[in-house]
Amino acid sequence: MHAMVIGGTGMLSEVCLNLLQAGYEVSVIGRSQERLQQLAQKADPSEKKTSSRCLSLISVDYRNSTELQAMVRKSIKTHGPILLLVSWIHSTAPLALPIILQEAAHTKEEFRLFHILGSSTDLAEMKSKINPPAHCHYRQVKLGFILESHGSRWLTNQEIASGVWNAIREDTSSIIGVVEPWEKHP
Ligand SMILES: NC(=O)c1ccc[n+]([C@@H]2O[C@H](COP(=O)([O-])OP(=O)(O)OC[C@H]3O[C@@H](n4cnc5c(N)ncnc54)[C@H](OP(=O)(O)O)[C@@H]3O)[C@@H](O)[C@H]2O)c1
Repeated sequence: MHAMVIGGTGMLSEVCLNLLQAGYEVSVIGRSQERLQQLAQKADPSEKKTSSRCLSLISVDYRNSTELQAMVRKSIKTHGPILLLVSWIHSTAPLALPIILQEAAHTKEEFRLFHILGSSTDLAEMKSKINPPAHCHYRQVKLGFILESHGSRWLTNQEIASGVWNAIREDTSSIIGVVEPWEKHP
């Protein structure tokens, strides 16, 4: 069971670890070797290698379409079709997800995409932009904020990771925190 997490070395680190624990072979995309190594270290504190048997580290700038496509293709060849894709991609790379999705969609198997999105994203517009193929179960996870008695704050990494993990376990779209009333956002 191959899962790929794009942007998995920051707030989604815990999600990568949960996936490993759930038995997935996990490929993680990020740029910094140091952050990738830190994740590998958390996954297996006894090992100091670049990748463990179940965790593959892919160091690539996802704005570089050619390199990204080649790396994802290679990862699928090595670890099999991606059955679960978790995507946290900054808006500076509008081509990254379409490229990865195109590679993932070559399989005939059904697969799931969890698309993590910022608070102000128009979800319907994003879905029509992404236009997932019929055999892709597309889920959106919107990052909101937390209302408190005297104001509001953005989500912590821990809240984001557990919200994304719940969405994956329940196989559903969701909003972490709230997005309404929007005028109360931090
Ligand atoms: N609504 C909310 O409350 C909300 C919403 C969004 C974010 N946040 C908070 O804001 C903090 C910062 O957000 P963040 O986006 O920096 O999150 P992050 O998850 O800490 O880091 C972004 C991830 O994407 C990777 N990445 C970024 N640009 C890349 C590129 N060009 N190519 C390949 N990989 C790339 C990073 O790896 P590299 O660094 O190695 O490139 C890292 O794995 C988060 O920790 C979160 O708590 C809160």
